Amino acid sequence: MSKSITLLAIESSCDETSAAVMIDRKVRSNVVADQSVHKKFGGVVPELASRAHQANIVPVVDAALREANIGINDVDAIAYTQGPGLMGSLLVGSSFSKSLALAGGRPLIPVHHMQAHIMAHFIDDPEMTTPNGPFLCLTVSGGHTQIVKVNGPLEFELLGETIDDAAGEAFDKAAKILELPYPGGPLIDRYAQDGDPNFLTFSKPKIDGLDFSFSGLKTSILYTLRDAEKETPGYRKEHMKDICASIQKSIVDILMEKITLAVEQTGITNVAIAGGVSANSGLRNALSDASSRLGWEIHIPTFQYCTDNAGMIAIVGHYAYERGEFGSLDQRSKTRMKLQ
Ligand code: KG4
Ligand code: ZN
Repeated sequence: MSKSITLLAIESSCDETSAAVMIDRKVRSNVVADQSVHKKFGGVVPELASRAHQANIVPVVDAALREANIGINDVDAIAYTQGPGLMGSLLVGSSFSKSLALAGGRPLIPVHHMQAHIMAHFIDDPEMTTPNGPFLCLTVSGGHTQIVKVNGPLEFELLGETIDDAAGEAFDKAAKILELPYPGGPLIDRYAQDGDPNFLTFSKPKIDGLDFSFSGLKTSILYTLRDAEKETPGYRKEHMKDICASIQKSIVDILMEKITLAVEQTGITNVAIAGGVSANSGLRNALSDASSRLGWEIHIPTFQYCTDNAGMIAIVGHYAYERGEFGSLDQRSKTRMKLQ
């Protein structure tokens, strides 16, 4: 039998500080500290994010090791997010990981954050099914929206991506127009549950192929609500649930249209979603509906692996470790990185 692999993973690309312990593809702890400090600003404030990471990183790593009931000397390698993300945030996680690796003589594994969102599907978890064979993954987060053909662990082919805003950004910017605190995606989701999705219609992007665009939708939401508010003061508050349901429907429709096109173009009916927006109930329902109507096999991560977390960084670390692919202390953090 091959040797057991124990990893410590650290994620700090945006506004969540997270540490996880993984033993042989099973997550033993996955501690996430999120940052309420950004709430009132309508988005992540980079300087505040790095400061919060600095304050959180030691207690979060300590908690992850304790929860997994291991010590730092039991760790075979340290996986950390190299990018893409906010530079100040990435630097906290990478510097901490490098110091640990140097002090303990352990190998380092730099991880691509968007690969990690997809690879969450390979975590050995009784509540999730790992896709068999090639699958399409719709990766939808606060910074990215991509359709990726996944041929196996760490084998990716980018088929399409957003040319402007990401789906999560569309949710967050719409929430800001509604004067909801950041991150607005989960709040829009909650209000939408009791609203009428056909209450308002917004303009749809006209973009060919498998690429996405959300900036036109944002403008359409902004103007529609501004005009309605001018005409009827208090409109947004009064119709909050219906407005949220309409916004959510527009975003989900755009996502579903493109993933359906990707299925038609590739003939692959094994479909997964990943990233923060994969927590959205409208998207989850639309995918389940497509599964029953069109016979797709679908894969949806459990909530803890949708939004940013170190468990997903650990699973990339696991496969890289098996392949003997390690990084070095002089590797730099990167705000932008190609998927492969
Ligand atoms: O993957 P993630 O945690 O961080 C990035 O890598 O960006 O994604 C965060 C994004 C935010 O835009 C947040 O509003 C969105 O995911 N999000 C949601 C939901 N939960 C998180 N959007 C819609 N519905 C949700 N339930
Ligand atoms: Zn993410």
